Amino acid sequence: MFVRNHLLSLAAGAAVVAGVVVASPARAADSVKIGLILPMTGGQASTGKQIDNAIKLYMQEHGDTVAGKKVEIILKDDGAVPDKTKTAAQELIVNDKVNFIAGFGITPAALAAAPLATEAKIPEVVMAAGTSIITEKSPYIVRTSFTLAQSSTIIGDWAVKNGIKKVATLTSDYAPGNDALNFFKQHFTAGGGQIVEEVKVPLANPDFAPFLQRMKDSKPDAMFVFVPAGQGGSFMKQYAERGLDKAGIKVIGPGDVMDDDLLNGMGDAALGTVTAHIYSAAHPSQMNKDFVAAYKKDFSNRPGFMAVGGYDGIHLIYEALKKTNGDTNGDKLIAAMKGMKWESPRGPISIDPETRDIIQNVYIRKVEKKDGELYNVEFQTFPDVKDAGKTKK
Ligand code: PHB
Repeated sequence: MFVRNHLLSLAAGAAVVAGVVVASPARAADSVKIGLILPMTGGQASTGKQIDNAIKLYMQEHGDTVAGKKVEIILKDDGAVPDKTKTAAQELIVNDKVNFIAGFGITPAALAAAPLATEAKIPEVVMAAGTSIITEKSPYIVRTSFTLAQSSTIIGDWAVKNGIKKVATLTSDYAPGNDALNFFKQHFTAGGGQIVEEVKVPLANPDFAPFLQRMKDSKPDAMFVFVPAGQGGSFMKQYAERGLDKAGIKVIGPGDVMDDDLLNGMGDAALGTVTAHIYSAAHPSQMNKDFVAAYKKDFSNRPGFMAVGGYDGIHLIYEALKKTNGDTNGDKLIAAMKGMKWESPRGPISIDPETRDIIQNVYIRKVEKKDGELYNVEFQTFPDVKDAGKTKK
């Protein structure tokens, strides 16, 4: 890539010296480049695959040209290692001269790229990561995923109102896990709930078994769980093996642990689990039914919430380019994105013009079996939820 660009610029230079005006065959101005940085390998690979799939699907449906420009996606696998994210972002910006960086499977990856987006003055579209602080790290960051605060506050209030008095918590030991824990605790204890056990597990290859016995012994009414997308299946397997379901200890939490792409593999131990989240494959809108059917047809699995973050992220990029008439100036693109509203497979969403963060419905859902498959069935909606976790200025 570097060699090709280098040669092209040499050729362009020669044309100028000779005083000849030539139309170069593939001028950068005719295309829009999106550098997509995702974990395609390692423990977070299901996030990368969902987002990559959803972007492919969107481009199949909407074409690969927008505002007269050809959209070129350059995918780099960072394996969810923030140093690799940074190197990938640098290469994409300096060598490939991308107009956007996008993706970011985990919070540390989104944070690692933030100073580079600021320096290059190009949008960083966060399609997966969920810690509140992220959008405050660069004026060029816009988020189409979610924040843990959005769902954890709501499940905290729900637990209090539904007779849950004692909770043991198990959260992944990094920034979004801490957001989930803190926002849940704030709401749950303010309503009179009590935390009887608190456990943090490592992000990489967690073994839940040693902690589950402690959870069981603390005899909670429920356990609050946050594990990132991709880990819910192994968590629920160990939860059932240790007999916590039989002991009547229900799982509650943000919906990451009940991700739709893994839910069917969890078996009946997942039945009845109540979580608060932003997307369910069972969301009853026509748009979602079409989205799920098209995704399944192409990729033979259900889309989960990460897929929707990617689908909406590429939509935001397309619509911003339409608004700027194809102008790729980063400040103009960010201005175009602020306040944008649209219907997503998850329901109505918008970009908060003040914070560049997503405003969306949060649904309370319960796992039920329909036609032999497990689904998160939505039964209560909290409309237009903003992130509760922004630093007060
Ligand atoms: C994050 O690292 O911000 C993250 C990753 C996966 C999730 C939620 C948050 O499911």
